[in-house]
Amino acid sequence: MGKARGRDRGLAGVRAGVRQRGGSEARSRREQAGSAARTARWLGPLGPGVVNFASVTTKDRENLLYQLRYAMRNPAKVPPYARRLARDTVLRLRNRDHVDYYRAVMKSDASRSAEAAVGSKSHARWLALGRMQFDYLVEHGLRPSDRMLEIGCGNLRAGRLFVDYLDAGNYYGLDISPDILIAAQQTLVEDGLQNKVPHLTPVRDLRFEFLPDAYFNVVHAHSVFSHSPLPVIEECFAHVGRVLAPRGFFDFTFDRTEGREHQVLREDFYYRTETLLKLAQRHGLRGRFMADWEKRPHGQSKIRLGHA
Ligand SMILES: C[S@@+](CC[C@H](N)C(=O)[O-])C[C@H]1O[C@@H](n2cnc3c(N)ncnc32)[C@H](O)[C@@H]1O
Repeated sequence: MGKARGRDRGLAGVRAGVRQRGGSEARSRREQAGSAARTARWLGPLGPGVVNFASVTTKDRENLLYQLRYAMRNPAKVPPYARRLARDTVLRLRNRDHVDYYRAVMKSDASRSAEAAVGSKSHARWLALGRMQFDYLVEHGLRPSDRMLEIGCGNLRAGRLFVDYLDAGNYYGLDISPDILIAAQQTLVEDGLQNKVPHLTPVRDLRFEFLPDAYFNVVHAHSVFSHSPLPVIEECFAHVGRVLAPRGFFDFTFDRTEGREHQVLREDFYYRTETLLKLAQRHGLRGRFMADWEKRPHGQSKIRLGHA
């Protein structure tokens, strides 16, 4: 339990040391402080005056003993966890394939709130998480002429800013959830972005077969692999190189562990950095850990891949 659900740890959630929708979205300040020391060893010092919000964990949230201890410390979280466990069990029994299952989870979540379905507890957090992604890429040289592919674009929390910034027609958003893509269309309407002619496409795999070779300068996946089993990530690595321009890059976030790799409710997945870097290498992609992302108040880590 504890890391029972969630999409994305939010700005306020991390700052206040409280969970945002439970799950992978937040850890207590105590966990953050402990993990910062472990991360500092891995990354080396980030420099004087830099606050390290780093997101590594060593906890195994799949472990029954961990779950029981967590439940005793946080009794108020037991009923919502039990409800989610019950719902997810039904959805898992009905949908054996991960993509079908996760699509059903998104359908159920989005029927209540699209913003909550992508992991934002409030509209303010939804705006802040979108802004954080956008600012980071612009600081890393995103230009209006770039062609961007966003994998798991959700309801355009960040996508709305990318669409607005990029030249017309240069934004492609993919998602496994038709429900969240309908919410994404609503975001475009609310922001008056129709003239930017963004592409929004539902997918059932990450093979990108309908997209052209060497087309995208920037591929972005925020809080998607934190909800993906390894075969889904490998499928993406196996095919993303084909659509990535020669000097393009692919940024993705993930829930990082330095302990045992594990998952909770088939919703939240924890990987070691080396696992993902080695997997990418096997598919001709060179990767690096983005230490500067760790300074942002977000609970996941980021890797950047390019052609080897
Ligand atoms: C936590 S939300 C994040 C959405 C968006 N990236 C953002 O930051 O607002 C994760 C999104 O990824 C989508 N997703 C999950 N697995 C996916 C997959 N294998 N392929 C494409 N989209 C996926 C979900 O449907 C959901 O919209």
